[in-house]
Amino acid sequence: MQTNFLARTKLGRMFWRRVLPLSVGCYLRQLKAIGPKPVLLTTAVFAANLGDRRQEYDQHVLDDSGLPDDPIQLLHLWIEEAERSLKVTEPNAMLIATVDAANHFQPSARVVLLKHLDEKGLVFYTNYGSKKAREIESHDRIAATFWWPEMHRSVRVQGRVARVSAEESDHYFSIRPRGSQLGAWASQQSQPIESREALDAQYAAVAEKFRDSEKIPRPDQWGGYRITVESMEFWKGGSSRLHDRILFKMTESGQWAKTRLQP
Ligand SMILES: Cc1cc2nc3c(=O)[nH]c(=O)nc-3n(C[C@H](O)[C@H](O)[C@H](O)COP(=O)(O)O)c2cc1C
Repeated sequence: MQTNFLARTKLGRMFWRRVLPLSVGCYLRQLKAIGPKPVLLTTAVFAANLGDRRQEYDQHVLDDSGLPDDPIQLLHLWIEEAERSLKVTEPNAMLIATVDAANHFQPSARVVLLKHLDEKGLVFYTNYGSKKAREIESHDRIAATFWWPEMHRSVRVQGRVARVSAEESDHYFSIRPRGSQLGAWASQQSQPIESREALDAQYAAVAEKFRDSEKIPRPDQWGGYRITVESMEFWKGGSSRLHDRILFKMTESGQWAKTRLQP
């Protein structure tokens, strides 16, 4: 359909005659100007490169019989294995998606770091005035995704989300590096600011305020959220795109049900 569009319509013909030669010309000029590593690719060339990319995943399959009954245990294991792999730099980074109930349930997603994992769920820390926090307060559903490309593994989580206790947030805040503690005071996360200098000035003011304090208290607007897991899917890349997908779902009786899904 895309080929038809490009061959038959006026816009399509213009693409072949004008846009593509221009893009390629621009790319070649860049190559010539800066040597073998182009820093800026035109959209057409970049899109073509992405379409051509192929990553073959390894031969190991996810064997159902060896899996634990509890997905939290398996997530723990995969994070540990990602941590041990020297190639994974942020094994606990996860993309979390929240929705804004006041704006047509518009989803938005961003990366945060998983800081605690146990049978009660997954904990991350953030600013309670941020966009994500406002969305969570408007609607308590959340999705999270881990992706460890070096290991050909991914995990998807769905569940509900709620603040952790003040004591839990206090404890984690107390073990953060001082610079991060000051940063939590200095930033009104997700609010606009006129310049980088203004942000640095806010940090300097906070550093000055706490200059003589050995211990920095946790700001009220900063703390943790816990995701209570309702379902978790483990994905392992396989050869010929025959990936393994194992879905764990919490049943009404409080047991985990395991299902294999087609890739
Ligand atoms: C690797 C990585 C780790 C991050 N970790 C956190 C985190 O733990 N907590 C957090 O609030 N933001 C974290 N961020 C920043 C968020 O992605 C995001 O920019 C910020 O939380 C504001 O999002 P919001 O406006 O949707 O609330 C991280 C970003 C990256 C790239």
